[in-house]
Amino acid sequence: MEKTLWHPVAASADLAQQPLAATLLEQPVVLWRDAAGTAHAWADQCPHRGARLSLGRVCGDRLECPYHGWQFAASGQCVHVPALPDFSPPATHVVRRFAACERYGLVWVRLQGSADPHDLVPFAAEADSRLRKIICGPFDVATSAPRLVENFLDMAHFAFVHEGWLGSRGAASIDDYRVDSTPNGFVATQCKAWQPQSSAHATAPAQVEYSYTVEAPYAAVLTKVPEASSVALADYREAIGMFICPVGPEQSRVWFRLAGPDGPASDDKLRAFQQTIFAQDQPVLESQSPKRLPLDPRAELHTAADKASAAYRRYLKHLGITFGVC
Ligand code: FES
Ligand code: CO
Repeated sequence: MEKTLWHPVAASADLAQQPLAATLLEQPVVLWRDAAGTAHAWADQCPHRGARLSLGRVCGDRLECPYHGWQFAASGQCVHVPALPDFSPPATHVVRRFAACERYGLVWVRLQGSADPHDLVPFAAEADSRLRKIICGPFDVATSAPRLVENFLDMAHFAFVHEGWLGSRGAASIDDYRVDSTPNGFVATQCKAWQPQSSAHATAPAQVEYSYTVEAPYAAVLTKVPEASSVALADYREAIGMFICPVGPEQSRVWFRLAGPDGPASDDKLRAFQQTIFAQDQPVLESQSPKRLPLDPRAELHTAADKASAAYRRYLKHLGITFGVC
């Protein structure tokens, strides 16, 4: 079922004139842009002798294989075989193509299904023109995508993994919060934490309130409920989307889409903050065993503070997710 879903495979800004290699659900993919700027995603394997097309180059509206120079049009059809200039390649001389689209500063691919992006995971903050959007990543992590999602939903680790930043061990207790089903997943609301430095903008410790929305197996969106004191920002909804490419069952590539009110901090400063936080998460994430998320409720221990994580595991089970779980 994972193959029918859209997954992010690259930042749009990272896909320029050169073809780009990616791996999605263990499938090697080549990404490239044609002369009109449209992104394409194909199997990264030339149908002639199997060379990696991502080592080739883009020639206008064609992708050229690095080995014998065969050229493929955007349709995937081979249109030129340099060793036989008069040969018209038949319809069988074609590359395997996947659906691709661009949203939220990322290139999305699905291995099966139509190119219609209507069922892409929603990220409502993207449409708010008052919010500044930044892509942060990629971060390569040696664990499954579901372990990453769970970490993103988990407030109880702030006081330890992010001590002095997103939490403090003197204020580790987690107030009760709500978890409710939605038509396409679930939402956790009233998630409160005391944070010494809750963002790159923060100048003082603050009590923060988050909600977390999950509407796809390998993505989650955090929305920050503004502090009452920041009246000017009261109607802004700062959001962070975590979008994960399931590279392999125990290997992931993740991006964060930050959407927040414009402030004095530069894009680079906001990225650096996110990098600092993620660098604190990464060693713990990579230490977790098993790397695949156990869906059997008896496999790990749970408390009331783990309600969101329990809901996530039930959601994956309900969807029939098999990649990155055990
Ligand atoms: Fe690609 Fe021969 S392997 S042209
Ligand atoms: Co963390």
